[in-house]
Amino acid sequence: MAELSVAEESDCPVEGVDTRLMGDCCGRDGYDGVFGPRFSRRLARRHVRRGLDETATRMVAFITGEGVQGASVLEIGGGVGGIQVELLRRGAARTTNLELVDSYEADARTLAAEAGVGDRIDRRLLDIAIQPDSVEPHDIVVLHRVVCCYPDYDKLLGAAADAATRILVFSYPPRTVINRVVFGSENVWRRLQRSAFRTFVHDPGALLAAAQRHGLEPAYEQRGRAWNVVGLTAA
Ligand SMILES: C[S@@+](CC[C@H](N)C(=O)[O-])C[C@H]1O[C@@H](n2cnc3c(N)ncnc32)[C@H](O)[C@@H]1O
Repeated sequence: MAELSVAEESDCPVEGVDTRLMGDCCGRDGYDGVFGPRFSRRLARRHVRRGLDETATRMVAFITGEGVQGASVLEIGGGVGGIQVELLRRGAARTTNLELVDSYEADARTLAAEAGVGDRIDRRLLDIAIQPDSVEPHDIVVLHRVVCCYPDYDKLLGAAADAATRILVFSYPPRTVINRVVFGSENVWRRLQRSAFRTFVHDPGALLAAAQRHGLEPAYEQRGRAWNVVGLTAA
């Protein structure tokens, strides 16, 4: 398993965000506290009981519609790997999961083993935004509920787009007044708790442009109550 990289603060410019409390910026500080073993167990239990959430189901349907047979899939921030298990069941050849924290490993292994797909999943601790050259290209790249946890969406989606030879699909929270107030309040609370973790309601147009600048074209858009989904394909 690759070493987790730690970004220099200067590598992670964040407009409108005070990065001084972010510690090692895009490294694991702060993420560990939020995405720990309890969070992982909750995700795994939910997946076993109810399967994919509504947004992930839409993302998988888009990918399947574009063709998943024999494909390689890269999931960034895939948690316990529910989306990967479903794509492997639908014919994907293999998947790679990139994470910043190691809290999911035991639950992810169990989930994959129970689905009989454990030998087709590679899990690495690696930040693709910081080490883009450490990740080989994959046919399909997925980010579900991840861009809102990462300050430098431009680097993250740029690296994700560069790694995608056919399809990039990601979900993000709508930039509504309510979300901006809720996310902002949560960040104030985290700051008071001295937590380095922050969440972001990035500008949807800027998210799309970040991927388009790397040669992908919009092919799918779905708006939901909590999450919007965008799918892009190679031009
Ligand atoms: C809200 S969780 C979502 C987990 C899973 N995708 C799901 O929807 O259940 C966000 C995850 O993204 C991971 N993450 C954020 N930025 C990342 C990055 N640059 N590379 C890899 N993982 C990242 C976090 O560590 C966290 O586990």
